[in-house]
Amino acid sequence: MSLLINKNLPFWIKIFFYHAVCLDALPWIVYKKRRESKKFAMSVASFPALRLRRNRSSVWCRNLVAESILGISDLIWPVFIREAHLSPSIKTMPDVRRFSLEEIDEVVSLAKQHKIQAVAFFPVTAIEDRDEEGSGALKENGLLIEAIRRFKALAPDIGLITDVALDPYTSHGHDGILVEGEIHNDQTLEKLSRFAVLQAKAGADIIAPSDMMDGRIGTIRQALDDNGYHNVALLSYAAKYASCLYGPFREAVESSRCLGLQDKKTYQMDYRNSDEALREVEQDLQEGADAVMIKPATFYMDILHRVKTSFKVPTFAFHVSGEYTMLKLSASAGIMDYKVSILEVLSSLKRAGADAIITYAALDVAAHLLGLEASHDD
Ligand code: PBG
Repeated sequence: MSLLINKNLPFWIKIFFYHAVCLDALPWIVYKKRRESKKFAMSVASFPALRLRRNRSSVWCRNLVAESILGISDLIWPVFIREAHLSPSIKTMPDVRRFSLEEIDEVVSLAKQHKIQAVAFFPVTAIEDRDEEGSGALKENGLLIEAIRRFKALAPDIGLITDVALDPYTSHGHDGILVEGEIHNDQTLEKLSRFAVLQAKAGADIIAPSDMMDGRIGTIRQALDDNGYHNVALLSYAAKYASCLYGPFREAVESSRCLGLQDKKTYQMDYRNSDEALREVEQDLQEGADAVMIKPATFYMDILHRVKTSFKVPTFAFHVSGEYTMLKLSASAGIMDYKVSILEVLSSLKRAGADAIITYAALDVAAHLLGLEASHDD
């Protein structure tokens, strides 16, 4: 190539070299590439020598060639913690219950019995204690804070993930502070970071902001570090979509009555977008997120896959309340088998790239994997 810029060479020689090096080489490169790909294709047999069904012919063989495996260590169990006088049952979520502080020991023994690695707590406060500002979140001895203390005292070796958002505490049901009809981003950040520090002080291992305010990861990271909680991790609900699938959860934490007909579309993501999710994830990683979450899971598997392949960081999926309840109700209507369908969904999330999954079916799936009950084919 240096010949081309050599001043002493006549112009026609330069043209000759340019032609030889740049233009004549092109068809040769294309030809070489084609040959290489053909070589690979020729080394693979085709029917009838090749029969892909052979590897599927028995349970043991399918197990040997399985590309992704769903294990107990992939499961995070979400647990609702209720004020003592509230009912344990949730009418929108079959077989899911709410535990009181007095029942934390039951949560611990269920988690231990099922070899659960981590649980995620969601508080259910009394409606009459909620206010415009969500000030209940900042009580030193609030419900969630007390639950964290009790759980970690009984189970120091089980991971505890706690939610940072104001919706269990606000009278309007939003995740942030409402100022003149708008969720005020920066005022909310200030509250969230104080809430996160309280949770860390009580013993939370991973703080998981689910509020979708801009800049919350950086602000919370700074607040945790300033208070000496360098080792407390941040799991960002980075790509959280404004979804109808949160309906049963909002009943469980009793925020749906507060929210009424309002939605959360000014801060949670628009389900028509995908590139935007990558921007959200990138921003949160730059601000110090240790892991990111995609939520909901099933309808958003393309997002999960794009995020995992683009960033190669710990990527979690939240199989949310609506996804769980759909499977439960179709099972009770005799349409689909619950165990079979939940295993297919969660395994598909693994295949799409999830490193861990928050699922209300965590105990059921763990019991199945541990062989604590009659097992399914493979
Ligand atoms: C609120 C929060 C929601 C969920 C987790 N945290 C609901 C919402 O954003 O309104 C939903 C979880 C589920 O549906 O299982 N910060």
